[in-house]
Amino acid sequence: MALTVFILQLAVCILAFPMYLLNFLGIWSWICRTLFPHFLAWVSVIYNEKMASKKRELFSNLQEFAGPSGKLSLLEVGCGTGTNFKFYPPGCRVTCVDPNPNFEKFLIKSIAENRHLEFERFLVAAGENMHNVADGSVDVVVCTLVLCSVKSQEQTLQEVYRVLRPIGSFIYKI
Ligand SMILES: C[S@@+](CC[C@H](N)C(=O)[O-])C[C@H]1O[C@@H](n2cnc3c(N)ncnc32)[C@H](O)[C@@H]1O
Repeated sequence: MALTVFILQLAVCILAFPMYLLNFLGIWSWICRTLFPHFLAWVSVIYNEKMASKKRELFSNLQEFAGPSGKLSLLEVGCGTGTNFKFYPPGCRVTCVDPNPNFEKFLIKSIAENRHLEFERFLVAAGENMHNVADGSVDVVVCTLVLCSVKSQEQTLQEVYRVLRPIGSFIYKI
């Protein structure tokens, strides 16, 4: 038994060694940041197909939160490739936040495919510090599959609270 455990541990060490080495050389995070958007673009098509009805339900009442102008202003934190765009109501003004700048070209593609939206801007920032977004300036904040990867959930939620209008809505999915 002890020998089996030792062999398994050795196998894991050997398999993980290239990652440790790349991390030590400071290259691993660059690889992840570059490759992850491609991976997510591929996976999210499948995920969206499976979750379409749930997402439609999750975003069904967004328009109710529109401010006095009638235009819904929405901030998506950790937007990734913009897979949620097609579920947002027509005329919705979307601002995207993501710390990974490599998502921009995927966002541009999603914007082109979702002409019913008004795209405002893409901010390269973490949810924990969205200082470029003014206090009380958005009607809805959306955050799907992101809170598990932020460094501080508390700080992110404080920022969400700060940027939302007093009667805005926070829509999240862990
Ligand atoms: C699993 S993806 C989800 C993407 C998208 N929200 C979706 O539902 O398809 C996680 C996203 O969170 C982003 N992210 C990671 N850390 C973050 C942080 N501290 N603040 C905001 N976004 C973050 C990643 O760059 C990535 O785009």
